[in-house]
Amino acid sequence: MMNLLLLLIMVAGVVNGKPVSLSVEGGRISFRVGEDVWLESVGAVVGNESYAGSSVGRTFEFGAMRGRLRSYKNSFIFEQHFPEGLEGTTVWPRFKPSTRRCFTYHGDFPQMASGTLETYQASDQGGLPLVVFDEETVSILSPLENPKAQRAVAVGVGIKTSAPAGWTQRWILTFGSSMRRTFDDWGATVLALLNVTNDLRFNMYRDPVHATIGFWTDNGGYYHYSTGLWPNQTYEQVLPLVKAYHESLGLKFGHWQFDSWFYPKDGGVSDGAVVNWTSLDSVFPSGMAAIQEKLGVPMVMHNRQWSVVSDYIKASSAGVEWLATGEPPNGAAVPRDPAAFFEWFFQQQDGWGLSMYEQDWMCTEYDKVAAMKTNLTLADDWLRGMAAGLLFGANLTQQYCMPYAYDVIAAAGFPRVTNARASNDYFHDKHGRQNWQIGATSLFYTALGILPFKDGFYSSNLPQPGGQNAGPELHPDREIIIATLSAAMVAPMDGLGYMNATRIKASCRADGVVMKPDLPLRPPDVCFFSDPPDYDIKPESCMIYETFTDFFDRRIHYIYFDNTTWLDETMLDDPNPRETKNLVAYNWYTRQLSALPTRLTPGYENHSYALVSPFLNGLAFLGQLDKYAPASRARFFNLSSTPNCPLQLTVFGVNESVTTCAATNNFTLVCETISFSAPRTENLCLHP
Ligand SMILES: *[C@@H]1O[C@H](CO)[C@@H](O)[C@H](O)[C@H]1NC(C)=O
Ligand SMILES: *[C@@H]1O[C@H](CO)[C@@H](O)[C@H](O)[C@H]1NC(C)=O
Ligand SMILES: *[C@@H]1O[C@H](CO)[C@@H](O)[C@H](O)[C@H]1NC(C)=O
Ligand SMILES: *[C@@H]1O[C@H](CO)[C@@H](O)[C@H](O)[C@H]1NC(C)=O
Ligand SMILES: *[C@@H]1O[C@H](CO)[C@@H](O)[C@H](O)[C@H]1NC(C)=O
Ligand SMILES: *[C@@H]1O[C@H](CO)[C@@H](O)[C@H](O)[C@H]1NC(C)=O
Ligand SMILES: *[C@@H]1O[C@H](CO)[C@@H](O)[C@H](O)[C@H]1NC(C)=O
Ligand SMILES: *[C@@H]1O[C@H](CO)[C@@H](O)[C@H](O)[C@H]1NC(C)=O
Ligand SMILES: *[C@@H]1O[C@H](CO)[C@@H](O)[C@H](O)[C@H]1NC(C)=O
Ligand SMILES: *[C@@H]1O[C@H](CO)[C@@H](O)[C@H](O)[C@H]1NC(C)=O
Ligand SMILES: *[C@@H]1O[C@H](CO)[C@@H](O)[C@H](O)[C@H]1NC(C)=O
Ligand SMILES: *[C@@H]1O[C@H](CO)[C@@H](O)[C@H](O)[C@H]1NC(C)=O
Repeated sequence: MMNLLLLLIMVAGVVNGKPVSLSVEGGRISFRVGEDVWLESVGAVVGNESYAGSSVGRTFEFGAMRGRLRSYKNSFIFEQHFPEGLEGTTVWPRFKPSTRRCFTYHGDFPQMASGTLETYQASDQGGLPLVVFDEETVSILSPLENPKAQRAVAVGVGIKTSAPAGWTQRWILTFGSSMRRTFDDWGATVLALLNVTNDLRFNMYRDPVHATIGFWTDNGGYYHYSTGLWPNQTYEQVLPLVKAYHESLGLKFGHWQFDSWFYPKDGGVSDGAVVNWTSLDSVFPSGMAAIQEKLGVPMVMHNRQWSVVSDYIKASSAGVEWLATGEPPNGAAVPRDPAAFFEWFFQQQDGWGLSMYEQDWMCTEYDKVAAMKTNLTLADDWLRGMAAGLLFGANLTQQYCMPYAYDVIAAAGFPRVTNARASNDYFHDKHGRQNWQIGATSLFYTALGILPFKDGFYSSNLPQPGGQNAGPELHPDREIIIATLSAAMVAPMDGLGYMNATRIKASCRADGVVMKPDLPLRPPDVCFFSDPPDYDIKPESCMIYETFTDFFDRRIHYIYFDNTTWLDETMLDDPNPRETKNLVAYNWYTRQLSALPTRLTPGYENHSYALVSPFLNGLAFLGQLDKYAPASRARFFNLSSTPNCPLQLTVFGVNESVTTCAATNNFTLVCETISFSAPRTENLCLHP
């Protein structure tokens, strides 16, 4: 006889008033939202064998694996434990496929792909987080620590290769009801379980690289393997001219980025691995410290996969051995003791001004070094060792570039990994996905406190002959709006003579500090739960992106629409929905004010961009309307109403004239202008 006794062992939170619970019968687990079975896990695969399994309370026995389950707030935590170790791989939980809608992320610069649990496919280093959703419920499954040691399958998770005795691997399944809220809860829970304080990482003004506009030379930019109109001159000769040009435009670039053109490789631009992370004599004949003296700004510097014939291997730098696969230029290597290597490595850049270390080609390093796949711990140790090494440099942060989804989940545990690239290189579209389309990936990154960088861009729509990329960029406003709303770096890459300073200045204060929103842009829930009125789409194709600036009594929304024009309240992420909403929409391009819902008139690049703000005491605050994030907290503080003043606020200005506007409830603008000649704050009162 089967044991038909159902043992209810746990409840984790409430979704839309319904308890999330699970019941266990032998090795079978049913997750319910109210009465509805949301997911069902049946047995496990351990060392390639299937086991029906048995359970005693929260502990499951499947051959050589012990499964453990516990609830934590609105989540369940799964633990696979191998007391004696294991030859082979595992799958547990092992979910029954169903017609439930889901999406996940695949590939480098992980991109969203949606379908159902029947059509779901896992991928190498992707397929997680796995989001299962309907109009009322959202669940998110992902690994916790050591994400590179695990893998996804259709449909489940497990360790990717043999485990030593005593190994434990954990995953989390979080439940909620709104897409963005559930992502935020998932991210907060992951960070809490990894002992990371979110505000440690999520300080988008922590240093000049994050806070100010920067000049970049990445792939797709004018100076990527090109010195422009002076091909026979070195970077050492040309870059100071570029800096002087920026100064002549009054642009205060607070950081620069050097890409892979500065260091020696064992092959070409697109395949060579790094031989020695130092400047080539042909690029900077006087060396890195000399060019840094001329530029005098904090630097972002690029690195790629390590060569199998690198100077570090030859010199046994830091006494570390290397694991290498293949021959130059196709091979790659990784230090056997990454923590020891990177502790030494990050002390070798004296005088470079290095502030952010950009690790690019992360997928390549992982894919090419065989031991990354056969050794359960090496890939996580590589990431952990890099992150720990940063502490030995001066105030270093790190950017992940070409990361897999699992790299980004690993980064949740490393507070100095502040950002990751969310799309392919500028003008290099991938699978029809354009570089600016970062919203779907931002949903994932933002929840973990990782800023989604969109890469640099051209600020001008004119041709830029002589550079790597001659353009023209036909939608520079779209580029810079998305960059500004990403809350990551705003990084023009134009050539000398080609920059559009007016456009760049619309992203920042006169001192170059970017006027950012409070969080990176993300698609609103309407992209997942009901099709926007204009067209039928999959969530990954929904090009409506929203973010905001919060003051204590109100939220000012910024909403970008690529090819739709309908704006209503379902597109607003509002933590305090009021019974009777009294909102105004401001069309950034036409300056029209209207009530919601409304249809926006697109601007000159054919997209629409709007602010939405609530009326309080007869005025809706909008801010400095010639900026892309007009209400940014880099400019405005301390909004309040007093008996004498319906809208009082503090304005911070540098060396500039700031016009601050609000909307009246008969849809007219009221504005006041303050001129600043030195950095200071001014109080201002706006009256209807
Ligand atoms: C499990 O399967 C993999 C690939 O199918 C194989 O390489 C491995 O030897 C198998 N392990 C065991 C314990 O059978
Ligand atoms: C987090 O901190 C707790 C308490 O100090 C500790 O038991 C746990 O192992 C830590 N978790 C991680 C992932 O470091
Ligand atoms: C650069 O140098 C090459 C060979 O030395 C020469 O043929 C070419 O004309 C030079 N170009 C310019 C723009 O000076
Ligand atoms: C890398 O190159 C620099 C400059 O040539 C040299 O001083 C340094 O020793 C090299 N690094 C190693 C590990 O050999
Ligand atoms: C796996 O990699 C780690 C470094 O992460 C190393 O200490 C260990 O020796 C490696 N194991 C094997 C079997 O090579
Ligand atoms: C690190 O950053 C802090 C804050 O920006 C600054 O005060 C300090 O001087 C920096 N330290 C180094 C070594 O650059
Ligand atoms: C620069 O950008 C502004 C929009 O910010 C645009 O109006 C102007 O025409 C552009 N200038 C050039 C020379 O393209
Ligand atoms: C809007 O753009 C997206 C992405 O480019 C595309 O998939 C969709 O079909 C477009 N919709 C309309 C109505 O043009
Ligand atoms: C805007 O749309 C019009 C009409 O389809 C088209 O002619 C024009 O090229 C578009 N402009 C841009 C910048 O895409
Ligand atoms: C905001 O107001 C508080 C007190 O209400 C004050 O301490 C603070 O300095 C003000 N901030 C600015 C930027 O004026
Ligand atoms: C202030 O801005 C003006 C131009 O707007 C510029 O000429 C001047 O040098 C700036 N002053 C400072 C201190 O940056
Ligand atoms: C809008 O209201 C303001 C004061 O609240 C008033 O001065 C103005 O005349 C009104 N405009 C219209 C068009 O009614």
